[in-house]
Amino acid sequence: RVRGVVLRPTDGVAEDGRRGFTLLPDALVEIEPFTGHIRSIGPAPADCTDAETAPGAVWLPGFIDTHLHFPQTRIIGSATGPLLDWLDRSVFPEESRFVETAYAEAVAAEFCAALTAAGTTTAAIYSSSDPGATNVLFEALDRAGLRGDVGLTLMDLGAPPALCVPAEVAVPAVEALVARWHGQAQDRLRFILTPRFALSCSPALLRATGDLAEKHGLWVQTHIAENQAEIAAVAEAFPDATDYLNVYEHFGLVGPKTLLAHCVWFDGPVWDRAAAAGLTVTHCPDSNFFLGSGAMRLSEAVSRGLRVGLGTDVGAGRTFSVPRVAASAYDAARIHGDSPDAEALLWHATAGGGQALGRPEVGRLDPGSAADLVAIDVPPYVLEAALKQPEAPRALYESLVFRHDQGSVRHTVVGGRKLR
Ligand code: GUN
Ligand code: ZN
Repeated sequence: RVRGVVLRPTDGVAEDGRRGFTLLPDALVEIEPFTGHIRSIGPAPADCTDAETAPGAVWLPGFIDTHLHFPQTRIIGSATGPLLDWLDRSVFPEESRFVETAYAEAVAAEFCAALTAAGTTTAAIYSSSDPGATNVLFEALDRAGLRGDVGLTLMDLGAPPALCVPAEVAVPAVEALVARWHGQAQDRLRFILTPRFALSCSPALLRATGDLAEKHGLWVQTHIAENQAEIAAVAEAFPDATDYLNVYEHFGLVGPKTLLAHCVWFDGPVWDRAAAAGLTVTHCPDSNFFLGSGAMRLSEAVSRGLRVGLGTDVGAGRTFSVPRVAASAYDAARIHGDSPDAEALLWHATAGGGQALGRPEVGRLDPGSAADLVAIDVPPYVLEAALKQPEAPRALYESLVFRHDQGSVRHTVVGGRKLR
């Protein structure tokens, strides 16, 4: 059990649509020992002394990173953008190294340690195009106790030959990874289909991916409309498509189990089609700033009721910290004249991320939710003020999202198990 100041997400997209939290000044969270689910949450009884506490910190759901790349862990900060140049100069050479098992194992350990240190408890992860490295990543997540949706990155053109895997080889590799890992460790681990993006995939590979999605009912993640040069190249490579989203639609890759990263250059009608499809948006503003890709319009997605998660997009993103990405989301919104609340951004970093990944049991602190929590340090004067005005602790949310030098992650708990 866990006791202390708790921020509990409200229902969000339900009736009142409020995307926020309720502050519980002294709560007790009881955890079922075998399932790792929350049994109950409520005011702590006076005689409760044996719970895990974190004085000076607040508890909230673990952060959910809805988009990042495992084999880019060691190239964070590689400033060779824009996107297509950065892929050629920094990404493809590094991802080629993951055919070596020992290298993949070393980086997988670093990667899991970085997630845990950042307070990320669930992540949607791109592996490299190497099935062995993908297996190594699953093993590392399993050992670390983290929750993750992992995809073998599917690509068969536009990169060095070492990275390109034709559909005839990729499809059986996917089948084997699904059989071995999908739903394992009490559903902590899932397989997600991961065609890299339209420019990395032949029509045959995209069709094979659509067939796998249908056959296994799997989720799909990919990149879209990130950068202008990319969009122009996609239009040239797929002359029959009406636009970028239509490429993925054509191959049966767009629906309520689709996670689209970036969406920077969507216009109104494309946002409407995205909403009609019920797909999920992964907002990666830190990466978009670093590569100079542009600023996604968060309000376009939220106003249409689209599910939106935040993605660090490591290694174009410069941090594993989802709250830092939430701060970048604010900066991106400011460019368009919008000012989302810190509270709403923190909601997207937690409950919104769980919805985005089709894991409604994470990112929330309800009875039956997964017991995935973090304890985050807060300056004492901010905490005191919040406890004096628990119905609207605005400065607390702003501290958690905007004060980069505060907010260190004291504890990370997944399924009731303390990882940090
Ligand atoms: N588009 C295709 N591959 C990638 C990648 O690895 N990172 C980003 N940010 N965009 C991509
Ligand atoms: Zn990415």
